Formats: sequence, C-alpha cells, structure tokens
Amino acid sequence: MPERKPIALASDHAGYPLKEKVREYLIRKGIAVKDFGTHSTGRVDYPDYAEKVAGQVVEGHADCGILVCGTGLGMMLAANKVQGIRALPCNDTISAHFARAHNNGNILTLGGRMLDEATMQKIIDTWLATPFEGGRHQLRVEKIDAIDAHFHREKSS
Ligand code: RB5
Repeated sequence: MPERKPIALASDHAGYPLKEKVREYLIRKGIAVKDFGTHSTGRVDYPDYAEKVAGQVVEGHADCGILVCGTGLGMMLAANKVQGIRALPCNDTISAHFARAHNNGNILTLGGRMLDEATMQKIIDTWLATPFEGGRHQLRVEKIDAIDAHFHREKSS
C-alpha cells in the first residue's frame, strides 16, 4: 500500500480552537498532519493560511487539506483561487460525503464558529472514508478544470 502523505492543516484566529481539536483527532486516528498555524486566537487574515495549505496540496506534499475559519466560507474562497484546488465547505456529514463522492474535493473547509467537536469528528470520518465515484462526475470535474485553464490562459496572454 502506498504511504499516505500528511494532511495539511491551518486556520485563522476564528478557526483556531477547532483546528487544535482537528489536529488532535487526526493524530489519534494515526494520520500524519502538517500544521501551518495559526497558533493562537490573535487576529490574522485567512487567505494567508488558505494559500499555504492549497500550495501543499497542488505541489503534492499533502494528500489533502483541512482549513478552518469562522464559517469555512472565506477559506473556501481563498483556497479555490489556486488552480487545481477543489475546496468545499462541509459543516455537515452529507456535504462531506458528496464533496468527496461527486466533487473529488481536495480541501475540506470547516466553520470553527459553527461546529462542535463531535460533529467535526463525524465530518472528518466521512470525508476520509468516502472515495471519488468518478464516471460522470469525472467529466464534470474536468469541465471545472477547463474553465480554470481557459480564464487563467486569457489572463496571462
Ligand atoms: C473572521 O472574523 C471571519 O470573518 C473568518 O474566520 C471567516 O469566517 C471568513 O469567512
């Protein structure tokens, strides 16, 4: 079995308390984690942390990423600016299931102000246990990539 790469993890100040619990939970499950901060509740800007984790994922240093802000929404917006990232906010297990099964999500974003610890654990379990279904969903993900590539090319020409 190929060795699993670590999960890249980060949060802003609003997500910090839950991010700490996410790290502890992953370690308890025997999953390696690279924590890119933040390391306190002091105010920071979530795009800085989204960029770090998104970079780890597209550069192949991490299997996937988990980002925590107040709602999961700002982190999603910022991470999705990186070509190849499919960051999806999942504050319930149904979203976590379909984010993997249909959208082949590679970054899970969580709302630190919205989730209790037990719900976060169920969401992470669902995310990690759900494979991408491929098939018709593969074609749709490829169409998303094509939109990205099209506008990226236009901007840089
Ligand atoms: C920070 O107050 C908050 O705006 C941020 O954590 C996030 O929820 C943004 O989407």
